[in-house]
Amino acid sequence: MNTVRSFIALDFPVVVINKVNAVIQELSRAIPRGTVRWVPAANLHLTLKFLGDTTSSQSTQIKDILSDLASSITPFQITVIGSGMFPNAYRPKTLWIGIKSPADLRLIAKEIDKQVASVGILMESRPFSPHLTIGRVPSDLTAAAFGQLNNHFSSVPVGNLGSYTVDHLTLYKSDLRPTGATYTELAKYPFNKDNNQK
Ligand code: 2AM
Repeated sequence: MNTVRSFIALDFPVVVINKVNAVIQELSRAIPRGTVRWVPAANLHLTLKFLGDTTSSQSTQIKDILSDLASSITPFQITVIGSGMFPNAYRPKTLWIGIKSPADLRLIAKEIDKQVASVGILMESRPFSPHLTIGRVPSDLTAAAFGQLNNHFSSVPVGNLGSYTVDHLTLYKSDLRPTGATYTELAKYPFNKDNNQK
């Protein structure tokens, strides 16, 4: 059966992407080469829901869900600020830049999760934690390399990289290639600019 690996995300304006990318460049100069797989600027986004492999019937239903849902959301502001590591600083898997937003973002992710579950997409077991992944760390680093990574990462503090108004959701296709993932926009779902209440 033909399936498409896809996910739902929020995009960032170029000015914010450029600032995030400047942080990545600074970190990649500080952290020894090969320790982290840095996310290319073109792949930076905030994942609201990873859908995995979807059939064409699921995909059609998900598009309807997103269209309805987006039209009930009023544009809102988010701020890109701070940095951290998942699941912890000792053996990190993911390096991220933080997102501050009104509680709305968590509600939106929860609502998407609930609605796409109705077409057979697995529900999230972990609470949604909004973040912008900037790098991925292989699990087989030595203890010394993890220690070094931790020191170098904390030597590059990340302040406020800007605020902007989010006014749409994007559905992306993800193709896994030996050189890394390639994301292609499948559709954009604008929020309701005339809506004063969510
Ligand atoms: P992340 O930014 O937290 O790493 C596309 O693969 C996006 O979906 C990634 O940016 C990743 O979010 C997210 N994602 C969530 N769960 C995933 C999974 N099980 N496999 C791959 N990507 C996943």
